[in-house]
Amino acid sequence: MKVLLINGSPKAERCTFTALSEVAKTLEAEGIETEIVHIGNQAIRGCIDCRACKKNGKCVFNDIVNEVAPKFAECDGLVVGTPVYYASANGNLISFLNRLFFSTPFDKSMKVGAAVVSARHGGCSATFDELNKYFTIVGMPVASSQYWNSVHGFTPEDVRKDEEGLQTMRTLGKNMAFLIKSIALGKEKYGLPEREPQILTNFID
Ligand SMILES: Cc1cc2nc3c(=O)[nH]c(=O)nc-3n(C[C@H](O)[C@H](O)[C@H](O)COP(=O)(O)O)c2cc1C
Repeated sequence: MKVLLINGSPKAERCTFTALSEVAKTLEAEGIETEIVHIGNQAIRGCIDCRACKKNGKCVFNDIVNEVAPKFAECDGLVVGTPVYYASANGNLISFLNRLFFSTPFDKSMKVGAAVVSARHGGCSATFDELNKYFTIVGMPVASSQYWNSVHGFTPEDVRKDEEGLQTMRTLGKNMAFLIKSIALGKEKYGLPEREPQILTNFID
């Protein structure tokens, strides 16, 4: 069992990484393999709605999105971490997630998702809500914690002093591990829920 953790901060080992590491450490202690992938330092362009991915099964821009796609396909859980920028996720991360979720053809349902946000002071819950929407449109159950998953800080040292924030990360790791293990058992016993062919309406006709 494996969880992929995405660090959307431009900084490899700062506040967001500190929070993600606390989740990863807890997951590892629960017997779940982890990998933190740093994407926030790359120039990641946005989706251009070319739909080439619907034919090719991958994004037309061959960058970190296509590199991470097979890791996403294989993992049992995905944690997306971001610094809060103007009460929203980092722009690079949004470009990355739009293209990753849109271009990948595999079934994401029952992979467990979680968002982790890091802010100096404000905008955490708005950013948390924004990220959770990627999971809930593709059938990914969201692991929750004892509070909305955020840490506060301008430096990693600040984050390490945010005891409630770090505890929230550890609780998230434990809950996520439990959900992943439970889903694995459930899949064996009951199989995945049956899916109807998707109906798409645009409110016009
Ligand atoms: C462009 C920009 C916008 C920011 N906007 C916010 C904000 O809305 N609220 C906040 O509390 N901190 C804001 N910050 C501070 C970062 O979110 C905060 O320091 C975060 O913990 C940095 O995480 P990192 O070290 O992993 O990059 C902003 C920082 C930058 C560079």
